[in-house]
Amino acid sequence: MQKRTVLLSAAALAVIAATTNTWAQAQPKLKVGFMLPATGTFASLGTAIDNGFRLYVAEQGGKIGGREVEYVRVDDESDPAKATDNVNKLIKRDNVDVIVGTVHSGVAMAMAKAAKESGTLLIVPNAGAAAVTGPMCAPNIFRSSFSNWQPGYAMGEVAAKKGHKKIVTITWKYAAGDETVKGFKEAFEKGGGTVVKELSLPFPNVEFQALLTEIAATKPDAVFTFFAGGGAVKFVKDYAAAGLKKSIPLYGSGFLTDGTLEAQGADADGLITALHYADNLPNKRDQNFRLAYAKTYKLQPDVYAVQGYDAGQMLGIGLNATKGDAKNIQGFAQAVRAAKIDSPRGPFTISKSHNPVQDIYLRKVVGKENVLEGIASKALADPGLGCKM
Ligand code: PHB
Repeated sequence: MQKRTVLLSAAALAVIAATTNTWAQAQPKLKVGFMLPATGTFASLGTAIDNGFRLYVAEQGGKIGGREVEYVRVDDESDPAKATDNVNKLIKRDNVDVIVGTVHSGVAMAMAKAAKESGTLLIVPNAGAAAVTGPMCAPNIFRSSFSNWQPGYAMGEVAAKKGHKKIVTITWKYAAGDETVKGFKEAFEKGGGTVVKELSLPFPNVEFQALLTEIAATKPDAVFTFFAGGGAVKFVKDYAAAGLKKSIPLYGSGFLTDGTLEAQGADADGLITALHYADNLPNKRDQNFRLAYAKTYKLQPDVYAVQGYDAGQMLGIGLNATKGDAKNIQGFAQAVRAAKIDSPRGPFTISKSHNPVQDIYLRKVVGKENVLEGIASKALADPGLGCKM
């Protein structure tokens, strides 16, 4: 009788073990929904983010939080008018576990709204819109990149220290342009300078001629700008062609010269910008990342590739803590908030409102590289105004 009980228990154990095993193998794939631009002025930025993210996943053997990763992708065209429909394709049609996107601040705000309402995990791998980690912040929304305020503010401090007094700003009229200029102005005016004129044109227009004529007539000490992607290439070339590069120093948030130098050529040479990445950071993590990226894609990485890679790292940290459960937002958030993320940009932490707290570097274009000049602002934290969670 006793012997039989023992035998039965062993059989029961075997059944339990087999069930557990089957369960482990049957962990469904982790569905990652990329919502990124594949067309338009930011198309190459979307590709770099996608590349960076996939590189991280490949380094983990194709699994995150114990689950094999599969991808679905939507081209958001950097069009805010289509953003709600696009993000709902991922949430409602594709039933993704996590959304990774996007580049454009206006599109990202619509994504944050949908993510907040549905509770779906969202990691923003670029768009710096203040609202995403401000009034719209939520336990399930994270950013692996920056806030628009951060590089603007850091560059404003540097421009004031250089002794400039009168500066004209020029940018696209939308959240990213407005908020970058606002950050710049805040620091520059605190440092004793004045923004004498704020010029803008609608996104993604590149008809800069009339505005360049106005800059020439205003004769400021310097110009500060936010442009990115294809628009940044054209602006830098037009600024030089108008003869302004020789007479009026041009500063920018570093997107002006990131991922763009092949196309800008000598017209970008010497430009000084502020950003949370530079091409020759003296750390092994970055050197290894750059080698792996170049080997995999036959391309040099840029800030967007780093942000995509770090979106992967943040997802990994969160899902390893929840054993792959993308619905356990509390467990996920707790792990990411406590982490020091080992980024190619240098280690960073995540603020209470889920934005990176990070060093902003001063860089100078030399040939095809944004060469590190120094740290413009150490461990700069976005104020996260209006975030309650
Ligand atoms: C944005 O819209 O937030 C944005 C776009 C491109 C950049 C940076 C920020 O390079």
